[in-house]
Amino acid sequence: MQAQDLIRHFRVPDLGDMRQYVQSLPTNILMGMGGFAAITTYWYATRPKALKPPCDLAMQSVEIEGGEYARRSILLDDDKLMTHFYNDARTMYEVFLRGIKMSNNGPCLGSRKPKQPYEWLSYQEVADRAEMIGSALLHRGHSQAGDKYIGIFAQNRPEWTISELACYTYSLVAVPLYDTLGAEAISYIIDKALLSTVICDVVEKARTILDCVSGREHSIKTIVLMEAFESELTARAQKEGIQIISLKELEATGKANHKRPMPPKPEDLALICFTSGTTGNPKGAMLTHGNVISNCAGFIRITEIHCMLHHDDIHISYLPLAHMFERVVECVILVHGARIGYFQGDIRMLMDDLKTLKPTVFPVVPRLLNRMFDKIFGQANTPLKRWLLDFATRRKESELRSGVVRKDSMWDKLIFSKVQASLGGCVRLMITGAAPVSPTVLTFLRAALGCQFYEGYGQTECTAGCSMSMPGDWTAGHVGAPLPCNYVKLVDVTDMNYRAASGEGEVCVKGPNVFQGYLKDPEKTAEAIDKDGWLHTGDIAKWLPNGTLKIIDRKKHIFKLAQGEYIAPEKIENVYIQSDPVAQIFVHGDSLQACLVGIVVPDPDFLPGWAKNRGLEGSYTDLCKSKELKNAILEDLVRLGKEAGLKSFEQVRDIVLQPEMFSVQNGLLTPTLKAKRTELRNYFREHIDQLYARIKM
Ligand SMILES: *[C@@H]1O[C@H](CO)[C@@H](O)[C@H](O)[C@H]1NC(C)=O
Repeated sequence: MQAQDLIRHFRVPDLGDMRQYVQSLPTNILMGMGGFAAITTYWYATRPKALKPPCDLAMQSVEIEGGEYARRSILLDDDKLMTHFYNDARTMYEVFLRGIKMSNNGPCLGSRKPKQPYEWLSYQEVADRAEMIGSALLHRGHSQAGDKYIGIFAQNRPEWTISELACYTYSLVAVPLYDTLGAEAISYIIDKALLSTVICDVVEKARTILDCVSGREHSIKTIVLMEAFESELTARAQKEGIQIISLKELEATGKANHKRPMPPKPEDLALICFTSGTTGNPKGAMLTHGNVISNCAGFIRITEIHCMLHHDDIHISYLPLAHMFERVVECVILVHGARIGYFQGDIRMLMDDLKTLKPTVFPVVPRLLNRMFDKIFGQANTPLKRWLLDFATRRKESELRSGVVRKDSMWDKLIFSKVQASLGGCVRLMITGAAPVSPTVLTFLRAALGCQFYEGYGQTECTAGCSMSMPGDWTAGHVGAPLPCNYVKLVDVTDMNYRAASGEGEVCVKGPNVFQGYLKDPEKTAEAIDKDGWLHTGDIAKWLPNGTLKIIDRKKHIFKLAQGEYIAPEKIENVYIQSDPVAQIFVHGDSLQACLVGIVVPDPDFLPGWAKNRGLEGSYTDLCKSKELKNAILEDLVRLGKEAGLKSFEQVRDIVLQPEMFSVQNGLLTPTLKAKRTELRNYFREHIDQLYARIKM
């Protein structure tokens, strides 16, 4: 038997599983070779070729004309950025109309009750209901020229998207609200946007709104509820001058007072997306239809060859619709006439929803990926299982490196089919964003899940994404090249020693996906977008040789001391934290002071021993009160500072020891364990004032 024949024979498409394949072999072939050879040959022969990447992966972005080292996607023909992908879909309203056409009025939005199959609304049904709701909003006094902001305060569900489409159909603007903002921020948003109508899903959310406005002047006139409510709620609302109506009633009003659609233009506002930072009030990012459409276009351009969506695709919607990441994905789904299935509203049931819906598109966030990773490795609980998992992972990761993505290898059949099935078994496109993902986790899951798995990077101020990984580049540890809808440049951060000339600096973004500014907040807007239209993200990145971006740092909080020297307190804290007795430190200064002071939380494990070596003893709290110990720690800090090359004005002049750890619970750290500097300053105001008073004496 000739090798040639063997290979031809092994290339039969759709081989089915291994056993079936081996059975199908003529006996003489089987006899002619050992079992091992059969398996090996099977593996090599069924190994598909890598799809050709859309560009040379060694160079994924190019510098644009005009200096400043700004770069653009290599997928563009010239420096002209993409504003849209489809000529007939330049607003989110047109996106939906295109969806009706592409799906031939197929299923659009699906939802399910516990343990039930999905039920679907067709594209036309969704459009009709949106027209009714929109007509009713106009009938009740909303208009593009006047009261145009509509609050949407609900979990992901069909009515969310229908309400949003209602806004777009009549050029109104959706203002998503979400629970984690907190009551104070929601009050602030109601006032800032002068919301008069909020569409809520459940009674609880209506109560939150009532709590926010009770007993004060406010703009709210109508709360619309998707779910049933009792007359007690109506009575309570009445006291605040608010009418509560059901979504059904609203639709009936719209039916009786139908108005012709008043489609928006690309430059019209579509949404105001409020984002909460670590400090201060939320900021309302104003996004136009053109912003969202261009961001979608960038995504479609990158995936069009390897993973073009069509009307058969199914998306699982569970990431909050109030965030732009999910909104942009849905826009890409709708423009192709594909369908959106919503989760039941309980993240614990997501796995069940996935199995029932069998989505092909599954956007994720790193938190979920980490959980999947831990679970898969947790289940490999015997040495043999673990060895098999490691071995299979290595095989598939090496395929990935040569650009091969698949789920039909024998490793999939033996090892990974279970986890693939747990996601419904049909996922072909995944994208992670919203936070950095560990390269180990991403690479493993790319190998294990065997689907196109992209990583994106961005923020609400550039709609959602400004860079994304390229198909074929399945290496992790970078966030890909600029999207075809924006340029990216890195600018000097002198204080932190990052220079654009050496390919490092703060990420700045310019293009049709960059937002219009914060609602009624010119000051914050000017901090975010400079006079040349560049959005400053606050993230620090470097260009890799192949034109992709790697995020390496966060632009630190920087202030000037009274004499004008720049101080980056986090840089100083990073030096001081190396001191053995120090567990946490907060360095403070401001432009009214000539020097820095510090709040130190000593390390309860190290402190006693360290103190003893210096002849000091006592309980942890006693030691924290010891002036001698304080001076000893201060000395140690200054020594470390000198060694690290801190300038004398960068050293703390005095410190105070403080036994309470900074934590998420006491509000001094963010959930990602970053210091909340404003909160720390306020919390330790008295200590800080005393320190400065002592220094001046
Ligand atoms: C791009 O460059 C980085 C750093 O040199 C490297 O880790 C990565 O593998 C490269 N990507 C590709 C597809 O070659």
